[in-house]
Amino acid sequence: MSDHKLKEQIKRLNQIGIALTSETHLPTLLELIVREVRGFTRADAGSLYSVDRNQIRFEVAQNDTLAARKNEVYESFRPYPMPLDKTSIAGYVAITGETLNISDVYDLTGDEEYRFNPAFDDRNRYRTRSMLVVPIRTQQNEILGVLQLINSLDKQNNVAVFDSEQEDLVASLASQAAATIQNARLINAVHEIFAALVRYSASAIDARSPHTAGHSRRVATYSMRLARSANEETEGTLTDVFFSDKELEELNYASWLHDIGKIGVREELLERVDRLTPASMELISTRFEAIKLAVARDFERQRRAEGGSKETDHAELERRLREVDEDLGFIRRINKATRLSSEEIRRIEEIQTESFRNARGEVRAYLSEEEVHHLSLPSGNLTGKEFQEVRGHVLQTLNIINKIPFTNDLERIPVIAAAHHEKLDGSGYPLGLTASDITIQARILGIADVYDALTASDRPYRGAMPVQEALQHLIKEAEAGKLDRDLVDLFVSKKLYEGVT
Ligand SMILES: [Fe+2]
Ligand SMILES: [Fe+2]
Repeated sequence: MSDHKLKEQIKRLNQIGIALTSETHLPTLLELIVREVRGFTRADAGSLYSVDRNQIRFEVAQNDTLAARKNEVYESFRPYPMPLDKTSIAGYVAITGETLNISDVYDLTGDEEYRFNPAFDDRNRYRTRSMLVVPIRTQQNEILGVLQLINSLDKQNNVAVFDSEQEDLVASLASQAAATIQNARLINAVHEIFAALVRYSASAIDARSPHTAGHSRRVATYSMRLARSANEETEGTLTDVFFSDKELEELNYASWLHDIGKIGVREELLERVDRLTPASMELISTRFEAIKLAVARDFERQRRAEGGSKETDHAELERRLREVDEDLGFIRRINKATRLSSEEIRRIEEIQTESFRNARGEVRAYLSEEEVHHLSLPSGNLTGKEFQEVRGHVLQTLNIINKIPFTNDLERIPVIAAAHHEKLDGSGYPLGLTASDITIQARILGIADVYDALTASDRPYRGAMPVQEALQHLIKEAEAGKLDRDLVDLFVSKKLYEGVT
């Protein structure tokens, strides 16, 4: 080889090396390896197999001749695994670590341990001739895969034999490829460990309360469905929305982590499902017994004073006592309810105006002011201060995930996660951001969060809202300018809520 040619090849090898090391996405990297090595050897086709314990797996198949046959569907390579044994050419190289440089695979003598399988050629009217097959071997001598180059083309595009110089260069490239594959696998493994850690931490925090168990997982599912559906939109306002793989990953992490700040919220607040403490509910029950006694006593007094028929009086007394029982039953029910209708609030106020005379003759209200306050909180069962504490979880989330050193391409995770309770009209929290400051990812997360909070069925003490009612709620919120209308429409029309448990 001339000095000049050698220099050129070394330069090219270096360039390939640099290109390989900058790619960490494994499937892309494998494609790149085959493409570069084929370019180097002018190979018409090439494949890459990975070795996976006792199997070899087709990872990449490129074939210029077949790809050039336009308007004709040719059989694509399917990545099915094959048993790792010496009968196939790739298997032989994977086991022995030998390089095979075959001038024409149809001229094999039959004495070899391996055989060429012509089935693919037959089916696709292709003619495999020369073949160079090299192991992809790490410095630790582990064989990660096999690189198979087919039909080296000479300057006139005739199939030629791979020469021995090419053999050395391909071997050198294969060892570079081994290092980069190893590196990419390592990076993937770290990613997977990190993702698992995120999932387990979030699930553990959700599981502190039956209210929130499984919440982050489901929110991540809804978010990803919404984002992927938005990607597929080809008309309407979401046409221009497109999330790259990294942006999807960002949203996925943000979804899993959005409520991680709940770790700082007292368990009893997450757990609290009754508006009143059990002790106050007990007190009310006892009081209502006293009320019934008082009703009976007052009735008797009145009857004596006025005189009347015993039968009709008896029925009237029963009716009055039943009313008291019904009031108590209503209070018990309200005590467990998440949301109250205006009618229910009115009824509580009515009960509040009722009074009775206790055994000592003192006039007492059916319900104390404090009891009424707790019972009639419009949403939920927390007082204002407690509610603030629960709301504080967003800032806690931000504090926690700000400490995670995410790589640059995932740097928006904290911002997305911290905006999950913001509303487009500025009525959300903690910052009261408005539409222009709420990213589309945060809008998606917000919708997923509201929907799951409404429909989660793992709440033992209060019923989950039926799906249709929850969807109506989302639509109403969108109409009120709080949630993103297009995204809500997509969520509803594509039924993205279905089948999530
Ligand atoms: Fe939240
Ligand atoms: Fe949430």
